[in-house]
Amino acid sequence: TLLDVVVNNDLDIDGYGACEGTLTCSTCHVVLKQPDYDRLPEEAGDEERDMLDLAYGLTDTSRLGCQIT
Ligand code: FES
Repeated sequence: TLLDVVVNNDLDIDGYGACEGTLTCSTCHVVLKQPDYDRLPEEAGDEERDMLDLAYGLTDTSRLGCQIT
């Protein structure tokens, strides 16, 4: 997942991925460019959409990084 990329590369993004991908936070919120969003193989599931509703600055191309594979 995108969260794995951040963790495995020791990227210092304060607080990113606080729940380690268990869909209980929205700290991994990312806003994608439309073409990138359209290329994702899967749409957000119900649990991801519920957490996205709590994300700051939600957009039409928002996703949770821990759910992007
Ligand atoms: Fe918490 Fe993605 S890391 S929802």
